[in-house]
Amino acid sequence: MRAPVFAANWKMNHGPRATRSYLEHFLSRYSARDDRTVIICPPAVSLEAARAALAARSDVLLGVQNIFWEEKGAFTGETSPVMAHEAGASVTLVGHSERRQLFGETDEMTARKCDAAWRGGLTPMLCVGESQDERDRDETRAVVLRQLRAGIGRLDASQVRRMMFAYEPVWAIGTGRTATPENASEVHGWIRAALADEVGEQAREIPLLYGGSVNAETAPRLMAAPNVDGLLVGGASLDAERWAHMACT
Ligand code: PGA
Repeated sequence: MRAPVFAANWKMNHGPRATRSYLEHFLSRYSARDDRTVIICPPAVSLEAARAALAARSDVLLGVQNIFWEEKGAFTGETSPVMAHEAGASVTLVGHSERRQLFGETDEMTARKCDAAWRGGLTPMLCVGESQDERDRDETRAVVLRQLRAGIGRLDASQVRRMMFAYEPVWAIGTGRTATPENASEVHGWIRAALADEVGEQAREIPLLYGGSVNAETAPRLMAAPNVDGLLVGGASLDAERWAHMACT
């Protein structure tokens, strides 16, 4: 049985001060539960503050939103997996569509990042998803599976088995248009089958999250859909009260 995963992606919101007050509020509303995994991905500069605020709550994990693949050096503005890990992260998003679209992240870069994540002590959550144009051209399956296979291209099966994946159709992110549970389920089924080709039966245990304009209303229906094991939530995770409620879906 896969335990559901509820991951909050704050994007470029909540500096250290806002992070402290958010988490104080969140923890007063969300009690530890062993039937699910909750992950919060604050901006990298807020990781330390988040780690301190979560010191007594090992049930809530921290993720970083992006990493670079080198460990250290002359890479202005970048964060290495080792540094993110030291600051409190145990998970990293890789290949979020905003990274791909706004910052030119390619499939090859996601492969390097997934590989670097494991070397630096972070579990990668690889994000995949098609644009509206690609969907209109009926390329969803091809795009999602290309991104998936490329992203895990440098990993061995034992690493792939322990990572997480998020299907986030670009047309649904931040737009208020959520995929239907049937849509999400269909794509998750393709992802699961592709993962089974890579790692065999244990693909059943790999958490597949859906993301894109999920809110408290749509969350329960999406979570009930076959092959949807969790949610990756942006906008609706920015308020502590709402996120505490959603994490109990
Ligand atoms: P959204 O973002 O929930 O605001 O659409 C999801 C994401 O980009 O991870």
